Amino acid sequence: TDRYCVIGNPIAHSKSPDIHAAFAAQMGQSLTYERCLAPLDGFNDTVRALIAQGYKGANVTVPFKLDAAAIATSLTGRARAAGAVNTLSFVDGGIVGDNTDGAGLVNDITRNARVAIGGKRVLLLGAGGAARGVILPLLEQGPAELVVANRTRATADALVAQFGSPLLRACGFGDIAAPFDIVINATSASLAGDLPPIPAETFCPETLALDMMYGKQPTVFMQFASSHGAHVRDGLGMLVEQAAEAFTVWRGVRPETPAVLEQLRTSL
Ligand code: ATR
Repeated sequence: TDRYCVIGNPIAHSKSPDIHAAFAAQMGQSLTYERCLAPLDGFNDTVRALIAQGYKGANVTVPFKLDAAAIATSLTGRARAAGAVNTLSFVDGGIVGDNTDGAGLVNDITRNARVAIGGKRVLLLGAGGAARGVILPLLEQGPAELVVANRTRATADALVAQFGSPLLRACGFGDIAAPFDIVINATSASLAGDLPPIPAETFCPETLALDMMYGKQPTVFMQFASSHGAHVRDGLGMLVEQAAEAFTVWRGVRPETPAVLEQLRTSL
């Protein structure tokens, strides 16, 4: 039985073990997947101990995604672009670092919400780690444009400069003047119950507005977008899809996600 886990601090509330257990059952795969609490200064020791115990891989969450990128002996292209790692594979003495967050977001939008990204005007709110993690996979879908808007304009400028894509540009929240087809909230504002100061003109009835956060209730961003006619979606689908992508990386087979997402929704 192959062993996996998710490393974080805190970790008690992680839903990943439930998601991976559901995938394993569905695919008839024999594996275990646990929560692993690492001390804030003990990420590397934790990873070494897991490898010594014969673990095959681990997911990595807050606050260790940068440490995971640093400990990896090789990085996938999407992990390098993200500057962060959420999926480690322990293979032949090496540590492969990958990032499945962006693929998870893209698959949630295109497969679950059934909205194409190709040719669309896409607005990404925020320029921190969560935003950076999804830029390359979004660009690979061939949007008409991808605009990064951030409270601190200089951070958005710096992020955009790192990618150097003609499809990508930065702006401030106050510069948003016309509706976007897809608006993704990658700021951490929802955590504090705050709304990024974007104008009502950001949305129209055709807009898909997605918050990377989720909870029992719609976030303030979802409420605001919805009140201006947009279709809204929270981050639970992205959570399940990034897990499905990690499962696929590790096991070589892709689980079906809709039933798992539905089940997780009822457990919130
Ligand atoms: P994460 O890993 O979640 O992306 P981060 O790297 O600290 O966390 O980035 C947080 C992001 O949320 C930043 O884009 C931040 O904007 P600033 O660069 O201006 O700090 C954004 N953010 C946090 N709180 C916000 C708020 N109340 N309103 C708007 N943006 C906010």
